[in-house]
Amino acid sequence: MPKARYDGLADWYDQEQARLAQRPDAPVDQFARLVGPGTGLFVELGCGTGLTAMALEAQGWTVAGLDISADQLAIARSRLGSVVHSDAHELPFRSASITALGMAYVHTDVDAFDQVMREVSRVLAPGGRVAHLGVHPCFVGHHVDRPDKSEVHLGFATGYRDAVRVDDSEQFGPGIRSRVGAQHVPLGAFLMAFIDAGLVFDRCVELGEGLVPWMLGVTAHKPMTNGSSLTASLTRTP
Ligand SMILES: C[S@@+](CC[C@H](N)C(=O)[O-])C[C@H]1O[C@@H](n2cnc3c(N)ncnc32)[C@H](O)[C@@H]1O
Repeated sequence: MPKARYDGLADWYDQEQARLAQRPDAPVDQFARLVGPGTGLFVELGCGTGLTAMALEAQGWTVAGLDISADQLAIARSRLGSVVHSDAHELPFRSASITALGMAYVHTDVDAFDQVMREVSRVLAPGGRVAHLGVHPCFVGHHVDRPDKSEVHLGFATGYRDAVRVDDSEQFGPGIRSRVGAQHVPLGAFLMAFIDAGLVFDRCVELGEGLVPWMLGVTAHKPMTNGSSLTASLTRTP
């Protein structure tokens, strides 16, 4: 089981998220918009303290939140009907059993995002949908230098091309990343994690106010087994 880096930080993290939710471009709102309204079960991986899940429930979904941190889930449990303490690299769900799934700010935390996306693809039913919102891999991370700590002036330091975990960086500032570190996933590797898992993109949006977009949102689906996309039907032709 990978390390639960948010254990011991959940109360602080929850307060930070509540503060961040006041921004006009708040991630929690962007995630809810990306997912859209719906009914039935929605599985959220890396649900944290449940604030993102609550925003989805306000849109009609019934959310089951999964997280590796027992402390994060202790708070999420008071907000959600169903929580699962588990590792996103090995999902405790049957294959092809889930129709709607999402993640907010997860690719910078899990050890192997490509493995998580393979698991997502395994558990999604054909036609099932997935949404992911996270920091924009190009413009947020240890490789981006903010000389005056603002969102106005950005420079580039070395490191963008390296898919590495960074546990201490002068670029992190006083927020969550200085406490839990970050896994950097360059844009190409991020997109290929979906494609290699057999998922088909539906939307890609660059979000957030400021000089450059600081969030990237994507939605994708698992093709129907009868071949709803050319790639799917070609690879299944004997
Ligand atoms: C940045 S927080 C995001 C929480 C929530 N989605 C939000 O936006 O407020 C990342 C979450 O992913 C969880 N996480 C990290 N690695 C995980 C893993 N391997 N399996 C499940 N959850 C994981 C952490 O415990 C943490 O709660």
